[in-house]
Amino acid sequence: MSRKLLIAGNWKMNGLVAEGTNLAKGVAEAVKKAGKVECEFLVCPPFTLLSNVKKALRGAKVNLGAQDCHFAEKGAHTGDISPVMLKDIGCQYVILGHSERRTDHYESNELVNKKAQAAHTAGLKTVICVGETLSEREAGKALEVCTKQIIESVPEDSTSSNTVIAYEPVWAIGTGKVPTTKDVEEVHAAIRKTLAKKLGKGNANKMRILYGGSVKPNNAKELLSLEDVDGALIGGASLKVEDFMGIAKNSGAF
Ligand code: 13P
Repeated sequence: MSRKLLIAGNWKMNGLVAEGTNLAKGVAEAVKKAGKVECEFLVCPPFTLLSNVKKALRGAKVNLGAQDCHFAEKGAHTGDISPVMLKDIGCQYVILGHSERRTDHYESNELVNKKAQAAHTAGLKTVICVGETLSEREAGKALEVCTKQIIESVPEDSTSSNTVIAYEPVWAIGTGKVPTTKDVEEVHAAIRKTLAKKLGKGNANKMRILYGGSVKPNNAKELLSLEDVDGALIGGASLKVEDFMGIAKNSGAF
């Protein structure tokens, strides 16, 4: 089954206007320079940079995504941004259920599910994140935790066209620690099996499952060549053009 690799940058809460716009310009130039590539690119800057980044990416094959959204279309939700607003500003994607939101904002699987449905209705593609904590991994519960998150966070209307899954072990995020390839393979295979039960084999086989957590140019080849790994969700290394592009290059995309 050939699934197009997705190389996605999650900038998190980083970048003032000048810095973020320059980063986007750098990515756009590097992608244009790379020419024909065997992957899809995505950058997800903070809300405040979406407009500028959109302009900076003009003419380059790089998708734009946000890092969260509300489930409502509009209304009395101070501080929130709706999926319709994201679509309107030119986003194609939105990341949902990142572990930092699950922790900092107490987001539940049910809420992530509701947001994903709303995002799909607005015409956005979702990157739905799951992953176990260190104590869950040490207790031998990684598969159980990720499976439950998939069952409850992924909405029934998810298809391989509107949904991407990201497996991000919480303990691997920003730590430089990476699970063994065997552990990554095991979780990705379990996620695909769960997706098959939930959404049917056709969707599950075509749906991309990204790995995220300390992905760098020097481990990209090993991680991204695994059977069920269809790309990367990159935090820290997406803030440097060479590292972001180095990950794509080392994955064999060009
Ligand atoms: P790092 O690549 O910095 O570990 O972050 C991963 C992540 O959380 C991407 O969403």
